[in-house]
Amino acid sequence: MKKVTKLRSTVLAAAITTTFTLGVVGQATAGPAPLAPLDSIKVPIPPDNKLTPAKVELGKLLFFDARIGGDASTGCSTCHEPDQGWAWAEDFSRGYPGTVHWRNSQTVINSAFYPRQFWAGSASSNEKQAKSAAKGGVAGNGESDIMEARLALIPEYVKRFKEVYGTEWPLISDVWGAISAFERTLNTVGKYEAPLDKYLKGDKSALSKQQLAGKAVFEGKGGCIQCHNGALITDSDFHNIGVPPNKRWEEDGLAQITFRFEQYAKGMTQEGYRKAKSDWGFYYRSKNKWDRGKFRTPSLRYVKYTAPYMHNGIFYTLEDVVDFYNRGGKDEDGRTTPFPENMDKRIKPLGLSDQEKEDLVAFIESMSGPEITMKKPAMPPYAPLFTKAQLQAAQEAK
Ligand code: HEC
Ligand code: HEC
Repeated sequence: MKKVTKLRSTVLAAAITTTFTLGVVGQATAGPAPLAPLDSIKVPIPPDNKLTPAKVELGKLLFFDARIGGDASTGCSTCHEPDQGWAWAEDFSRGYPGTVHWRNSQTVINSAFYPRQFWAGSASSNEKQAKSAAKGGVAGNGESDIMEARLALIPEYVKRFKEVYGTEWPLISDVWGAISAFERTLNTVGKYEAPLDKYLKGDKSALSKQQLAGKAVFEGKGGCIQCHNGALITDSDFHNIGVPPNKRWEEDGLAQITFRFEQYAKGMTQEGYRKAKSDWGFYYRSKNKWDRGKFRTPSLRYVKYTAPYMHNGIFYTLEDVVDFYNRGGKDEDGRTTPFPENMDKRIKPLGLSDQEKEDLVAFIESMSGPEITMKKPAMPPYAPLFTKAQLQAAQEAK
């Protein structure tokens, strides 16, 4: 009996020590997953959507083809531009013509690893994500039957879908599968490996002295590792870290329209619809008030290329992000989340020196390797409506 009590108190003491060193209040679990190289995990591939080179090639064409969308102007690559970090370099993403989006466009690089996609985690796979992106009112705004009909009029697609899926005509459900197969190849492994991965795999020269100093801040005084951890450098969980609303919702009419539309589309209560002045994040899914202002922890991989940052893109540099954390989740004007009661207890003023802040930024940069560039492929043309012979015959019949 006594022994058990003793054991218990030792465990408790150990827990308290961990708690103390991590600066975590009320969390007595073992420490967070250590940082790990990305190739220590595998891209999840659903059994019903095997990766084949032909499917990936088809998916690449479709990803760049704006005919997968409403008026054939806005395809995936429109808002996920390879030379804008496979995202869109504005606070809010550009939207379907006549609209702006309401959230920051996320990079598609490494997205295949996420168990839940989007800032509030509303899609559980690339397949579901692609479908909702192509059809969503402020994104692709496409209609399934029209997109499918367009593909049937493009002989190159008819041929490729038949080869890959064995169907007479391209099916829209296979479009999501093919795009997802392509996205699963957009990873920062191999040639695109980050210096941090090389370091973690044993190449101790891969990080500079400053980056190593930054690593110590990341894992120690800065406490970043508590949420940005493991091989993907995220816990894939949802937290409110204090990001203040984007003022564009007060100043920009188009942004305000999308904001209101999204409140309505996401099933807000009457009162919420009238009063909301900010993105309620994970709340739209759970409808629990303690989830207001929570968003998925993004991976920090590839962030060198994906500014601006956060769900509403309010910070344009990594320096700004670090200053925000150093102030305990406040911007330079002292603005914070409208739901301070939901703020993660681990976000608090850090007291970092200028040197420590610079080191931290240098370390975050070591999480990005070479930029993944890609030229837009040539788009296969529609079949002509009539053959030459038919046109000639029509001419002669006149
Ligand atoms: C009009 C702009 C726009 C278009 C078109 C668009 N996206 Fe996005 N994409 C976004 C925005 C903005 C987000 C974040 C939205 C959110 O979280 O609510 C996003 C999120 C994503 C994510 C989630 C990444 C993550 O980290 O969870 C993936 C993957 C993605 N888009 C792929 C696609 C694909 C595939 C298509 C084409 C079928 C597409 N997008 C079309 C703007 C766009
Ligand atoms: C309590 C969990 C938590 C901790 C601790 C934390 N983060 Fe974050 N981080 C998040 C979440 C959640 C977001 C997205 C928030 C949003 O969009 O509203 C985020 C966003 C970011 C982004 C923006 C990435 C992007 O793609 O937009 C960067 C950079 C970042 N964090 C770095 C850090 C650094 C550096 C530290 C340590 C000083 C840190 N984080 C500590 C959870 C955390």
